[in-house]
Amino acid sequence: MVTPTVPDGNYRRKTPGAILDWKRNMTASQKILASIDRSSWIRKIFEEGQERKAKYGAANVFDFSLGNPNVEPPIRFKEVLKDLVNNPVPGMHGYMPNAGYLETRTAVADYLKTFNRQDFTPGEIVMTVGASGGLNIVFKTILDPGQEVIIPAPYFVEYNNIIDTHQGVPKIVRTKPDFSLDFDALEEACSEKTKAVLINSPNNPTGKIYDEEELGELGKLLTRYSEKQGAPIYLVSDEPYRKIVYDGFTVPSIFNAYNESFVVTSFSKDLSLPGERIGYAAANPQMTYLKDISQGMVICNRVLGYVNAPALMQRAVTHLLEESVDISIYQKKRDLLCDALGSFGYDFFKPHGTFYLFPRSLEEDDVAFVNVLKEENILTVPGSGFGGPGYFRIAYCVADDVIEGSLPGFERVIKKYR
Ligand SMILES: Cc1ncc(COP(=O)(O)O)c(C=O)c1O
Repeated sequence: MVTPTVPDGNYRRKTPGAILDWKRNMTASQKILASIDRSSWIRKIFEEGQERKAKYGAANVFDFSLGNPNVEPPIRFKEVLKDLVNNPVPGMHGYMPNAGYLETRTAVADYLKTFNRQDFTPGEIVMTVGASGGLNIVFKTILDPGQEVIIPAPYFVEYNNIIDTHQGVPKIVRTKPDFSLDFDALEEACSEKTKAVLINSPNNPTGKIYDEEELGELGKLLTRYSEKQGAPIYLVSDEPYRKIVYDGFTVPSIFNAYNESFVVTSFSKDLSLPGERIGYAAANPQMTYLKDISQGMVICNRVLGYVNAPALMQRAVTHLLEESVDISIYQKKRDLLCDALGSFGYDFFKPHGTFYLFPRSLEEDDVAFVNVLKEENILTVPGSGFGGPGYFRIAYCVADDVIEGSLPGFERVIKKYR
């Protein structure tokens, strides 16, 4: 019998389990194995949460780990669905143009005209499988291998994976202490390899909204670098939380700030439909190479295997573009949490929107701190997972009872550090 030799190089891990690792390396790709290892902490938080719930009872575990909205979709959503199901039209569950239904894209274009200066047509809109589907088709359309995408930190965890999937390279830049854009950092990061800047406002995990002045300055910086480069640097704005804003804040238009821009969004958060996988990507009608880009997005929707966004949901959201869940519910949760944690002495930026709070960790090692909170059955996520070490994320899209029940634990923990 021939004994298999362990291949050298990347495949070999110099551990006692080398043979076992070698066998594992023959299964999923190296990249995916590395991803599995990197994301194991997320799984671990989830699994430990489940174990704690089994041990202490679900009511005694305060799970703030996931951004899964706890508010039910608006009643109007159910009415629209019933209406669609009760009035079927032939072929309503069949394939369609990859960009989505013309009627839906026309409604989205008209809706976008209500808060952007541009004259949108359905040609700039592609209906997508959530915001994630939108990000995938945009980056698949614009990236060549090795091109860089600048991302201000902290940022949504999946960005690295999405950019890597399309052979791009994420380039993470710092933001200011109040999480506003740091133009020195952005400027330092721009190079001949830069293809895009990816922003998320309101931001997961910080709840920050970039204001009009910042976006204007970003637009000017990108115009300057695009001219220098002789080719556009794109601005991609991920906006699934656009409607989840508080205290009269609004989210300024990036389309008004910069022509070479895209918005990617979904109905996952504002209509509480994350499982229905429906969203859209919109390209700025004033973009230079609009025709290539919009055709590219349509092709990418197909070749990435999405083919088209879910048919029934496209028909539903056509009638729901102005709707949202009751945002005051989230604002009350934010206030309950911020008032209490502020009075205990936690340090945080009060979110302008989203349903996340991103306080400073009470010790440098945010992973260790999250474990201290876990001892109180409070489950949160270390900031390191979002490119924000020294912080932790609380997803407060949970029942008020969960917030209220967690407060004594938060107070006990801060007392330990005094
Ligand atoms: C900032 C951000 N972008 C995108 C997504 C993904 O949204 P979707 O479920 O619509 O794909 C999320 C989900 O949590 C998010 O927080």
